[in-house]
Amino acid sequence: MSHEPVVTRCETVEEAAAAASEVLATAIASARTVRGRAHVALSGGSVVGQTYRMLGAELSEWRDVHLWYGDERVVPLDDEESNHRLCTAHLEAPDATWHPIKPELGAEGAAAAYAEELGDTVLDVSLNGMGPDGHTASLFPGFPQLDADGVCVAVHDAPKPPSERITLTLPKINESRRIVLLATGAEKAPMLERVIAGPDPAVPASLLERERLEIVTDTAALEGR
Ligand code: 6PG
Repeated sequence: MSHEPVVTRCETVEEAAAAASEVLATAIASARTVRGRAHVALSGGSVVGQTYRMLGAELSEWRDVHLWYGDERVVPLDDEESNHRLCTAHLEAPDATWHPIKPELGAEGAAAAYAEELGDTVLDVSLNGMGPDGHTASLFPGFPQLDADGVCVAVHDAPKPPSERITLTLPKINESRRIVLLATGAEKAPMLERVIAGPDPAVPASLLERERLEIVTDTAALEGR
């Protein structure tokens, strides 16, 4: 049986950020109720900052919430390119447990350490962005990491700078209880169309588990204008 992703269409980027924040808040609240804790994978990029600000304002109780990264750039944690820096700057999450990578280990070492730390923890919700080339997390089209299994792998020579990164693997992201793809703006339109059309090895974001995939997008990304 083939599954269609749920598509939430918003008018603007702000509305999309609010919708994504709402999904995260709901997933966190439900995980804490059911399992007593919540595990969340965050991502970087240019549109998630608003989502994190809204989420911080919406949710006041962060105890037992674990914040992980779906992917991270291997740069010092206080570097302006660091996803950890981006997320901590925008997301007010008192008492949350943050799980930053260890960039001092280098990409391979940091990926191995992150794989061990996350281990078989099932993520309650994973927030993913998408590049205009169809990448999601740091899974880039044509890169061998797309076929990796296990938990987390290193990426070298990423086409989106910085070039050294770590990323959760597709199987790891795909076991998340909820999978959100936040894609806004006209430049994402061609790839978003392909994601909605069905799994395509040339479009990494289309390989997210469709059974649990929730696409949050805006008119510009759906209509290309
Ligand atoms: C990163 C990411 C990456 C990002 C997309 C979308 O660290 O670069 O996690 O996968 O989410 O490239 O980024 P934009 O929102 O800037 O288009």
